[in-house]
Amino acid sequence: MKVEDFLDPYLRQTWGSLGARVLSSGKHVSITLGYPAQGMQAKLTEQLSAFLGVDDIELDIGFSATPGRGFGQVKNVVLVSSGKGGVGKSTTAVNLALALDAEGAKVGLLDADIYGPSQGMMLGVAEGRRPDIKDGKFFDPIRAHGIKAMSMSFMITDKTPMVWRGPMASGALQQILGQTLWGDLDYLIVDMPPGTGDIQLTLSQKAPVAGAVIVTTPQDIALLDALKGIEMFAKVDIPVLGILENMSVHQCDNCGHLSHLFGEDGGKRVAEDLGVPLLGQLPLAMSIRQQADGGNPTVKAEPDSAISELYRDAARNMAARLWGNQTSTPTISMVDD
Ligand SMILES: Nc1ncnc2c1ncn2[C@@H]1O[C@H](COP(=O)(O)OP(=O)(O)OP(=O)(O)O)[C@@H](O)[C@H]1O
Ligand SMILES: [Mg+2]
Repeated sequence: MKVEDFLDPYLRQTWGSLGARVLSSGKHVSITLGYPAQGMQAKLTEQLSAFLGVDDIELDIGFSATPGRGFGQVKNVVLVSSGKGGVGKSTTAVNLALALDAEGAKVGLLDADIYGPSQGMMLGVAEGRRPDIKDGKFFDPIRAHGIKAMSMSFMITDKTPMVWRGPMASGALQQILGQTLWGDLDYLIVDMPPGTGDIQLTLSQKAPVAGAVIVTTPQDIALLDALKGIEMFAKVDIPVLGILENMSVHQCDNCGHLSHLFGEDGGKRVAEDLGVPLLGQLPLAMSIRQQADGGNPTVKAEPDSAISELYRDAARNMAARLWGNQTSTPTISMVDD
């Protein structure tokens, strides 16, 4: 058995066919994957040992992001989107960004929700803090919890909500995107405004986008909106990397009882029907809300928790899909009607 023949746990293709770099001598194995996977050290060591039939291999996991659709030194732009508002896009976007950072990637987060920006709050950026301006026209993104962030909330001067018209909104956003000194990034995660209307469509077309993640809650009505999202991205040729089901199950703080408040496995069913990967199912948990709304999202606040592992698994899965798409033709099947 060769390391090259090992099936990648997310893509179910061999590392050899995916173009992973492998160096091995004796018990020492060094691999370079196309997605960041520092959190998989123990698991992969065990699986690879079993696969190779060699006890106690010493595994080094490296990462090199293949440039996908991005711009400048930003290798991959990924949109986090939802058809319906309030399903947890922003919470998911920030935790995915922090999870990718924890796994070893260089990450930026752009809050494209010009109507209700929330990343300033979720990243704990002090109210009123402004990005530095370089050379009179470039913004230096704000560093928070190890990632680079930009949000419309860093630009406005008071708390009054802005009234944007469509073209103005996408113009402002394009300006933030293009005039920010992102530097070298493996992934730029974009927290999109809710919906699948013109604004979302325009935003998706303004920037080179490598893929989109769709966040949904399990109830039918949200799922219909998730479908609309998938259709919208198909129209503009943006691969849907996967669906993330949020608030999928609630565990009672007192008795530990699990209840499916919004129905069971809805996101999972949609993912299966459409042949789109299900990246994860996040529970409805008080801690997720309190930590994100308090400026210290779960992946940072409780890095070793089961919930953080769910986010990290979803983040690795998502990044692996980008790698897979770069080495093969993406296959996204639409429902036949
Ligand atoms: N899994 C979860 N468990 C508990 N609370 C959550 C969860 N996900 C999100 N929330 C909370 O639900 C609220 C809405 O989440 P969030 O702001 O992320 O949604 P959104 O889709 O970005 O909303 P909008 O459409 O307004 O941008 C927030 O208070 C957030 O903390
Ligand atoms: Mg939001």
